[in-house]
Amino acid sequence: MEIEFKVNGENVKIDVSPKKRLLDILREDLNLTGTKEGCGKGECGACTVLFNGERVNSCLVPALQLPGSSVVTVEGLRRWKSYPAIERAYVEHGAVQCGFCMTGFAMSTVALLKEQTFPLSREEIKWGLGGNLCRCTGYSKILDAVEEISHRDDILEQVHEDWQHEI
Ligand code: FES
Ligand code: FES
Repeated sequence: MEIEFKVNGENVKIDVSPKKRLLDILREDLNLTGTKEGCGKGECGACTVLFNGERVNSCLVPALQLPGSSVVTVEGLRRWKSYPAIERAYVEHGAVQCGFCMTGFAMSTVALLKEQTFPLSREEIKWGLGGNLCRCTGYSKILDAVEEISHRDDILEQVHEDWQHEI
């Protein structure tokens, strides 16, 4: 089937099987390899992208759901003005080791902060990142990083502004 949708703000038209997963379309057809495959069944969050403004596991989204939609991958997120500060917080808290999970965590972080006002509790952050697994860092450093981000007015304001451009 021929589908048209938007990826990182650009219109895309491709011919794919209706069952092809968004994850595979991104990686194989669009060469957007920042989105990773971990479990392939909706349990690890490595493949997280923003789909019509909500975070989703792209391994669970078939092509037939894509026409007319808007998808943001980490390649698009890297253009957000807030992204360097988010990445810096993760690095400074030692929350990234192999980096495989980072794409998914970054996506979930901006999704969590989309409509949040201060302050986010540790429990809220845990809930917000609940769909993402990391096999090497340990979660306390990741929670520390997002806790810092969520308490920084400047970063939060920029995230909200970035979302306005995205919607
Ligand atoms: S690869 Fe999609 S949730 Fe694990
Ligand atoms: S840093 Fe390696 S899986 Fe998270």
